[in-house]
Amino acid sequence: MKINILVIVAFSLLVVVRSLSSMKQTLYYESIFNFGDSLSDTGNFLVSGDVYSPTIGRPPYGETFFNRSTGRFSDGRLIIDFIAEANGLPYVPPYLQSVVTKSSMDFKKGANFAVAGATANEFNFFKERGLSVTLLTNKTLDIQLDWFKKLKLSLCKTKPECEQYFKKSLFFVGEIGGNDYNYPLLAFRSFKHAIDFVPFVVNKIINVTSALIEEGAVTLVIPGNLPIGCSAVLLERFSDDKGWLYDPRNQCYKPLNYIAKLHNDKLNKELVTLRQKYPQARIIYADYYGSAMQFFNSPAKYGFTGSVLKACCGGEDGRYNAKPSVRCGGKGSTTCENPSTYANWDGIHLTEAANRHIATGLISGRFTKPSLNNNSLIYKF
Ligand SMILES: *[C@@H]1O[C@H](CO)[C@@H](O)[C@H](O)[C@H]1NC(C)=O
Ligand SMILES: *[C@@H]1O[C@H](CO)[C@@H](O)[C@H](O)[C@H]1NC(C)=O
Ligand SMILES: *[C@@H]1O[C@H](CO)[C@@H](O)[C@H](O)[C@H]1NC(C)=O
Ligand SMILES: *[C@@H]1O[C@H](CO)[C@@H](O)[C@H](O)[C@H]1NC(C)=O
Repeated sequence: MKINILVIVAFSLLVVVRSLSSMKQTLYYESIFNFGDSLSDTGNFLVSGDVYSPTIGRPPYGETFFNRSTGRFSDGRLIIDFIAEANGLPYVPPYLQSVVTKSSMDFKKGANFAVAGATANEFNFFKERGLSVTLLTNKTLDIQLDWFKKLKLSLCKTKPECEQYFKKSLFFVGEIGGNDYNYPLLAFRSFKHAIDFVPFVVNKIINVTSALIEEGAVTLVIPGNLPIGCSAVLLERFSDDKGWLYDPRNQCYKPLNYIAKLHNDKLNKELVTLRQKYPQARIIYADYYGSAMQFFNSPAKYGFTGSVLKACCGGEDGRYNAKPSVRCGGKGSTTCENPSTYANWDGIHLTEAANRHIATGLISGRFTKPSLNNNSLIYKF
């Protein structure tokens, strides 16, 4: 009898422990501030009105998780949404929503400044280099930094109060800079053009990261670029009959991935210097490239049994289902039946399944250097 009760008690304890762990809170930050582009925009671009009635404002965007389009460039959650969940925090609210609707919003638990299409560099940077591209948005990294400085005034008042508050905040600076390369690449410029941009893009990221530390940020995650040579839109754009330019492991386009690697190497080098300059800060590199490469190299192993290079939502099929004539959500577009078996959502952006994979890699610490998941750290407070 006694033994039976013990067994029952032990079993119930196990159930309690298991249900607690399924809540999956593994990080303990109390607020998140995010800067970047469409990879982490949770609604800023949509409310900004820069483009009237963009396709992201309608289904199938959001169909997998939110059941409506939220302005996220995916079928569901983004990497930053999974990061918020892991901290037990609400999804990071888009800052522009309060500006555009002139309504007061509570940003105590964080704010998202990322805007789809944003570049690290200013409009004039591209213009001076003869790139008369029309940027999707002018809400660059510097503008996003200015928004943060403005919002900060309402978050904390005195220096000690701000210190106490930001000690428990997680800052995500990026991914940003991908568009600085996308604009010249999609405008049919040479690779050299994009390669020449690398130091300028990295310098801008470092500059804004420094500014945030000087504003009080303590823990900062700086993601690198994704393997853009595996992006359906760019693969379609650069369709090449030179087979040797494709990586035999994954069929990604090597010259494009070379640009991403160059960017990431340079960023990592500059982060080393930054850590020396600001020893009080925790400056964490997030290896989006390495984490994504796992599923590009072994799609089936990670559940991408539909397709890993082909867009789920888009049109005119072919190898990548990403012809420029059809946009996901636009006229003639089709959506795959099971987005969770695809990595690429709409040609450029990732599916929720792919975002979840990358986020898990960051939260576990496997793709963050130093580890984001380090319980011996100050963020336990
Ligand atoms: C979306 O709809 C499904 C099915 O009705 C439901 O289980 C899920 O909770 C909804 N998601 C949200 C975020 O409301
Ligand atoms: C960005 O700024 C440039 C120069 O001021 C302007 O010509 C362009 O229309 C702006 N683009 C957007 C989307 O606001
Ligand atoms: C960022 O760059 C600007 C312009 O070059 C410079 O004035 C500023 O001091 C830099 N900020 C930091 C924190 O390095
Ligand atoms: C956790 O952080 C402490 C203090 O900074 C450091 O000494 C330790 O090496 C870190 N552990 C891991 C696994 O990164």
